[in-house]
Formats: sequence, C-alpha cells, structure tokens
Amino acid sequence: MRGASLIVGEKVRVGVLISGRGSNLEALAEYRRKTDPAYEIVLVASNVPEARGLVLARRFGIKTWSQSHKGMERADFDRRVDAELKQHGVEVVALAGYMRLLSPEFIKAREGRILNIHPSLLPLYKGLDTHRRALLAGDEYAGCSVHVVTEELDDGPVVAQAKVRIFPRDTPESLADRVLKEEHKLYPAALDAFCRELLEPPGEDRANVGESPTP
Ligand code: GRF
Repeated sequence: MRGASLIVGEKVRVGVLISGRGSNLEALAEYRRKTDPAYEIVLVASNVPEARGLVLARRFGIKTWSQSHKGMERADFDRRVDAELKQHGVEVVALAGYMRLLSPEFIKAREGRILNIHPSLLPLYKGLDTHRRALLAGDEYAGCSVHVVTEELDDGPVVAQAKVRIFPRDTPESLADRVLKEEHKLYPAALDAFCRELLEPPGEDRANVGESPTP
C-alpha cells in the first residue's frame, strides 16, 4: 500500500494534526532538529485554536493553522483541513493527540499515508481510557502503538510498538506518564522509518520494511 507511489524529493512533507498539549508533536519536531530524518514538518493544524501544541510548533518555526470544528459537518471541516494540507504540499499526515474522528473521504483520499499514535498495545484497548482499562484487566504490560489510519477506529496496521511494564502500585496517571515517555521515542523513529520507505527508489532492499524500531 505504502510502496504504491513513492515520493520524489529529499524529505517527506508531513502535516501534524493536534488538539491539545502537543508533547508528541514536540518530540517529532525535536527529533527533526537533532537528527536528519526522512521527514520535515511543514504544517501543524488543529481543530482547537487555543491548543498548547500550536504554541510549541511556532517555537520550532513551524507554520500553524487552526479553526474550531464547532458547528461544522465533519466532512466539511475535513475538506477545510485537507485544503490547508494540500496548500502546504503535505504528503503524510501524522495524528498526534488529534481528538476527532476523520471522515471516510479524508481517509480514502490519503489512504496509507496517515499515521496515528495510540497509548495501548493495539489491538488491545482501542478508543479512550486505555491505561485504566489495562490496569483493570490486570495486564503485565501496557504500551503504545504507531499505526496506519483506516476507517475503523485505532484499527489499521501497526508499524511500531513499545512495551512498558505495569507495576502493582501503578495508577492510570503514573502509567500514562511512563507510556508517554515511550511515545516520545517511538513516534519520531516510526515516522522516520515510514517516510524513509516512501523515499526509497523501487528495487531497493526492503528487508526491514515493517520492522518495529522498538520490540
Ligand atoms: C497521547 O497519549 C497519544 O498517544 C494520544 O493522545 C495523547 C496526546 O498527547 N493519541 P500529546 O498532545 O501528544 O501530548
């Protein structure tokens, strides 16, 4: 799916969608600043104009766009977002705490080119409240997953995962903190690997495709 149309250029142009504090966005931008990944963040867009992540993005010198979705049909709002992404030549979309379901039209138009980070070991605990659910189930491990976005919520192919041990005294909050630290390592590395694959000329050795950066 991903190899179908490769991207011409030195770096994949990524648009990040956020709704809140933006710590994952910050990790993606920091990784871009410190290393030479296969992606560059050309736009951070939000459905929450007061999202803290927008402030962080501007500090990194990244362009931002925001508009509240309130009072708009989902498909109309997504068309607005899509127009903005197109205007900035976005090739891959990275969801980072984007608290809105995407319309099927948006997902179809960018099939295989949208990634999300989810705070559980998918396929376990799709949706919200993942840490509390992992604790209630008595799981030994929690974690986070980066996956390709499909029309089903938190259901697309997982491209990378990181595990975190659950301790007896953990609360949903303490577990969330530990998982978040792993998210900040996992997402940039996974996005980099995903984009690198899109840039590879056909016929290159693809032996490592789909391999998780963290076991
Ligand atoms: C993260 O836990 C992420 O896994 C989930 O939403 C949260 C966003 O946090 N999808 P932040 O805005 O990146 O700090």
